[in-house]
Amino acid sequence: MSRKKMKWIIILIVFIVLAAFIVPGLFNDLKIQHYSVNAVNISNSIRIALVTDLHSCRYGEKEQELIEAIDEQKPDIIMMAGDIFDNVIPDDNTEYFLQGVVEKYPCYYVTGNHEYWSGSSAFSEKMAVLEKYGVKRLSGEFEAVTVNGETINVCGVDDPDAYMVASKSAYQNDLSFDEQLIRVNELSDNGNYTILISHRPELFKNYTKYDFDLVLCGHAHGGQWRIPGILNGLYAPNQGLFPKYAGGEYNDGRTKMIVSRGLARENTRVPRIYDRPELVIVDLN
Ligand SMILES: [Fe+2]
Repeated sequence: MSRKKMKWIIILIVFIVLAAFIVPGLFNDLKIQHYSVNAVNISNSIRIALVTDLHSCRYGEKEQELIEAIDEQKPDIIMMAGDIFDNVIPDDNTEYFLQGVVEKYPCYYVTGNHEYWSGSSAFSEKMAVLEKYGVKRLSGEFEAVTVNGETINVCGVDDPDAYMVASKSAYQNDLSFDEQLIRVNELSDNGNYTILISHRPELFKNYTKYDFDLVLCGHAHGGQWRIPGILNGLYAPNQGLFPKYAGGEYNDGRTKMIVSRGLARENTRVPRIYDRPELVIVDLN
């Protein structure tokens, strides 16, 4: 066999091996990711559906695939950790999703960076959509919520990119990100189990300065490319290569953070590999 022929055979083998590895990793149907959290001061368990980074992606006709997946899990409450809307894709799929859940579950929401990247006018329209459907936006705010006979504190802060939207708008909190954290920490100082919803996982160290029991985040999209068991994400915004908080569960002292890999799929700049979009279900026991 000539050297030239041998070279092409090796190239072909490498290509086949790479394709055999990558193609199954492109499978991007919805995954349900469960977490169980031991919440010492809760007797009746509470099930949370964590919805993040939908980016108005399509989940079947009128978002039925996502809505049915949530219904099957029978959550007590839905928490939306930002980038539910997108700055490029129209809001239709997000609206279908909201229509499908708001009357069945209490819904809480915080902003992500992409809502702000839309600009002031489009941002206000998106916030008006939330208001129309009765979704409670937490913008440096907290609510004591009673579900299953248990009262928990649900705190929420705006994405740090809030500065990109003209200040003093009817929909912007004038406090900085850190000021919002301080505020919700003080407001929720009542002994209840306390959850913080915040889009950004890379700020975990900031969260550990306060008294939050559980922090729910998104934003990292699972690090986009994964090799399960070997590499938990190649790249994430605001974390760079080999992100520490790409997705999963993280603990530091009393603070636990759960990072969803999010629901974005067809609009991602590069395809997700071994990183299926996920609906996160958290059981507080
Ligand atoms: Fe984001």
